[in-house]
Amino acid sequence: MDSKSAYNLKHLLLGITGGVAAYKAAELARVLMQDGIDVQAVMTQSACHFIGPATLQALTGKPVFTDLWQTNTVDNMAHINLSREVDAILIAPASADFIAKLVHGLADDLLSTLCLARDCPLLIAPAMNRQMWENPATKRNIKLLQDDGVTILGPASGEQACGEVGMGRMLEVSELAQAVQMANRPKWLQNKSVVITAGPTFEAIDPVRGITNISSGKMGYAVAQSAIEAGANVTLISGPVCLKPPILAAYIPVISANDMLAAVTKEIANADIFISVAAVADYQVASIKNQKIKKSDGLLKLELTPNPDILKFVADLPNAPFCVGFAAETNNLEKYAENKRRKKNIPLIVANLAQDAIGANESSLILLDGDSRQELPKAAKIEQARHLIKRISQLYKKQRNENS
Ligand code: C5P
Repeated sequence: MDSKSAYNLKHLLLGITGGVAAYKAAELARVLMQDGIDVQAVMTQSACHFIGPATLQALTGKPVFTDLWQTNTVDNMAHINLSREVDAILIAPASADFIAKLVHGLADDLLSTLCLARDCPLLIAPAMNRQMWENPATKRNIKLLQDDGVTILGPASGEQACGEVGMGRMLEVSELAQAVQMANRPKWLQNKSVVITAGPTFEAIDPVRGITNISSGKMGYAVAQSAIEAGANVTLISGPVCLKPPILAAYIPVISANDMLAAVTKEIANADIFISVAAVADYQVASIKNQKIKKSDGLLKLELTPNPDILKFVADLPNAPFCVGFAAETNNLEKYAENKRRKKNIPLIVANLAQDAIGANESSLILLDGDSRQELPKAAKIEQARHLIKRISQLYKKQRNENS
């Protein structure tokens, strides 16, 4: 069915079904057009109760299709022609009813028929009342669509049009546009399982204090996003940061290094690749106080014990995944980074200068793999992360071929 790859997505069919979130589809069409994607809108009859086709027509600059029996197409084959002319189909919003139709391969209107007739990837953004989303029938249907290779975007949790609060809101327009852009990237890591750690860890001293490393999480989140773009199934295990995780990541928030190790241990069994971007605190407090330590003028002594080295733990596992480490150094960058790579026995380490990289939106990186060094001059972290993912995929494939 999905014989076309979404990579190089230039033409998108935006399907709109009947739900109040249909009003956001107009803005979505506008943003996608601004991103250089040619949008063809197709609406169900129910969608037309919520938003007029004329709005979509004006925004996309194209006639909007709403009817299987529209007689103004040359051969009355709109359901075939439309699905052949596009690189991917995005249904936003996707109602519970439309999702159920997709599951069963029903084809009783134009949009469901062209979904059945497609030979390109299908992405859907569910939007419905929280009870409808939580209904076992919907849960079953979503699972079946995932098994069929359909990409499910969201939904999100929040206040709903009906006044209730819960899961079922359609993702924001910016998130959906991001998901479309993600589909539009080379699939270096198609179907690979990638576990990524990011952000700092926080080691409690007492209920209100702790020690931590400075880390914004920007690099780790960019690596997670670019791995998703590259087709990987990503688990992002993150210490406390102020960033939204990429929408398609399985997200596990943690606080301390011990929490991070526990999450990594749980997730690593089926991982092909482990990328350790987290700035794990080197020490934890030997005995965490249950009550706030009262301030005094005297010296306060804290006893610290070393934290587990999560990356080394993974690299030493029998059947370890392909492991990638990061080294942020203030001086002797390459020498220290290469020493770490050897000590941890990992095939690739990414060196960056701490004073340049921490908290910044840009960084310059040096990739050291034992045989070669690759320098990536200063650029946005998302661009660096894309280069890194490409390099990881090359080295991963080389290693697996050598070992097989
Ligand atoms: O020298 P250091 O041990 O800090 O090396 C940094 C690399 O090791 C990073 O990839 C970091 O995520 C990982 N690391 C870890 N657990 C630690 C310390 C560092 O996984 N306790």
